[in-house]
Amino acid sequence: MLIPDSEQRRRTLALAADAVDRYYEALESLPVVPDTDAFRIRSELARFDLEQGHGLERLVPEVERLFREHGLQTPHPSCFGLFNPAPSLGGMAADLLVAGFNPQAGAWHQSPIATEIERHLVRWFLARFGLDADAGYGHFTSGGSEANATGILLALTRRFPTFRQGGLRTLDGQPVFYVSSEFHHSFEKIAQQSGLGRNAVRRVAVSEQHVMDTRDLVRSVRRDRATGLRPFAVVATAGTTNAGLVEPLGEIARVARREDLHLHVDAAWGGGLVISDRLRPHLAGIEEADSITFDPHKMLSVPMGAGMLLSRQRAWLDQAFGLTTDYVPDEESENLDNYRLGMQFSRRHAGLKLFFNLAGDGRQACAAAVERQVGLAESLKTGLSDRGWRVLNPAGVGVACFEDAAGRVCPQAVAATVRHGRKAWVSSTRLGGRPVVRACVTSHLARQRHVDRLLDLLDDARHALTDTHRLSA
Ligand SMILES: Cc1ncc(COP(=O)(O)O)c(C=O)c1O
Repeated sequence: MLIPDSEQRRRTLALAADAVDRYYEALESLPVVPDTDAFRIRSELARFDLEQGHGLERLVPEVERLFREHGLQTPHPSCFGLFNPAPSLGGMAADLLVAGFNPQAGAWHQSPIATEIERHLVRWFLARFGLDADAGYGHFTSGGSEANATGILLALTRRFPTFRQGGLRTLDGQPVFYVSSEFHHSFEKIAQQSGLGRNAVRRVAVSEQHVMDTRDLVRSVRRDRATGLRPFAVVATAGTTNAGLVEPLGEIARVARREDLHLHVDAAWGGGLVISDRLRPHLAGIEEADSITFDPHKMLSVPMGAGMLLSRQRAWLDQAFGLTTDYVPDEESENLDNYRLGMQFSRRHAGLKLFFNLAGDGRQACAAAVERQVGLAESLKTGLSDRGWRVLNPAGVGVACFEDAAGRVCPQAVAATVRHGRKAWVSSTRLGGRPVVRACVTSHLARQRHVDRLLDLLDDARHALTDTHRLSA
């Protein structure tokens, strides 16, 4: 029965709420990493009768068990990255309300309240990022990848007036845009999807600090122009995926202005710093951006998926996405219809969970959580240095990339050994061509004891690996 009576509705919602509550009560005692494999999960799923169904009262506890036994516990305070947060309670409640009310956030008249809540937040964040809230606008996206794609389409349409109607073939040269080699790989897919092709993503060298080298940016733009290419945008990353580093936004903005490039700042990770008065200076220069990607579902602990795209000029969004249809009523709306400002048509109301974080707990509490997470990552780096690890990204926000200072063990093996122990999750990556262990504080539930425990686990992994090495030598 898709619409049961009130008693059953309450029972089922209470069951789901109890499951979430039990999960958070038990969270610290659960293994972070599940002992599972695809075969076991598929056999579990094969038991479900999709023809007859089992009833929600049996289903909810079963699914709760499956997630406990076969899920990576990303909200766990010992889950150190990637950029998956522990969700806020306000965010969970908001997601339930959104599912229940099912507002259509695609058009103003389809949900005036959802659209206006999102408008309110867009204006608030534009102002906090230092952009003019009256001139600019923005919208919520599924995440950072969609926001980045939106930024590139915006830039293409802005720079090449014939692109909107005639496409790339109307241009007298191949458009290209610039990223540093520490960019997020969503831009490769975006270049392909937009018809630019992956070769249009020009990789600029990074400095010894692993951030964009602006001299190489200038050189690359001029060299490309001289060969007939059409540089149109540069992407600066504020919080690189590998290392949490903020590229030199002010310097890149100066180059962008001089070279007539659209400046898109990918602040999917680092954008969360904007809510903290103390940490906001890390983002100095972001106010020069023409467009910004910012993911509340990363540092701000909003449940997946909630990204944002902010544009310095509202008109650029209209140019890139504006259209009219016969089938969507064109009533009063100051043209605030999201379907005419971004890529999606029907769209979930992603803004309410961010609204709940801010209007529920208040900016200061949200800022305190971000400051604690960033502080714990700093404490982790200090602990690592004290214990004979070399940190390769001292300026990285919320992320530590490191290797054994004496080079005795391979970073990938260290990360894998920690994960196999199931008590914590860390990954490995490459920074400056070197393999490193990567640990990122993304759970607002993390405290100093979890950092201390991770340091012990890393030491244990290093001992185990050096012992094995010695035995096999
Ligand atoms: C810098 C950066 N940009 C964009 C993205 C993509 O965001 P999403 O996974 O929400 O699509 C990520 C993801 O980690 C990221 O680190």
